[in-house]
Amino acid sequence: MKIFIDTANLDMIKEINSWGILDGVTTNPSLIAKEGVDVRTRVREIAEIVDGPISAEAMSTTAEEMVKEGRELASIHPNINVKLPMCVETLKATKILSSEGIKVNVTLIFSPLQALLAAKAGAAFVSPFVGRLDDIGQYGSDLVEEIMAIFNNYGIGTEVIAASIRGPNHVLDATLCGCDIATIPYDTLKKMIGHPKTDEGIAKFVADYEKSKKN
Ligand code: E4P
Repeated sequence: MKIFIDTANLDMIKEINSWGILDGVTTNPSLIAKEGVDVRTRVREIAEIVDGPISAEAMSTTAEEMVKEGRELASIHPNINVKLPMCVETLKATKILSSEGIKVNVTLIFSPLQALLAAKAGAAFVSPFVGRLDDIGQYGSDLVEEIMAIFNNYGIGTEVIAASIRGPNHVLDATLCGCDIATIPYDTLKKMIGHPKTDEGIAKFVADYEKSKKN
């Protein structure tokens, strides 16, 4: 499974990239606002750090404007793909942008049939939001599993990005159903590394090594 980081923070991106496990980055208007930066400048900076897909969200509301904004965003760097929220205008814009070779990430996916429509319109990626479904009492990981089943049934090549990840269990659920990508917040990535038995094991090996040096 490919691992993306879900942030617009350069320090976090640089650190996770240094681990050698990072395949891409997703941003959204809230993450960009948190950093107090301009989206175009920031995605260009990210593209200089990470060699993989980077999602930049377009804020237009009509298909015509989305296409114009999408072309501008995609022209910043070859790795930049255009993130658009699921709606009719997005489907129309996705059809046009994808026919021009511009990759679209259709975001805010909350049902499997939304994902099917986005894929049929030519989306390169769809982003089901796991955590936000959990927030309203639904089991968000089920959505990812259902989308994977549909895409596998029909040999659909659109990549599924498990998004709105709130912890390691969401990542595990995504891997178990063969999800292509998880876009993971920095804190969750940190939580995925540690295990108390690993720490205990390292401490014991170090202590035994120190003891053996004295013999
Ligand atoms: C996806 O690309 C989004 O940026 C993101 O995963 C949203 O997650 P949230 O529900 O934590 O805001």
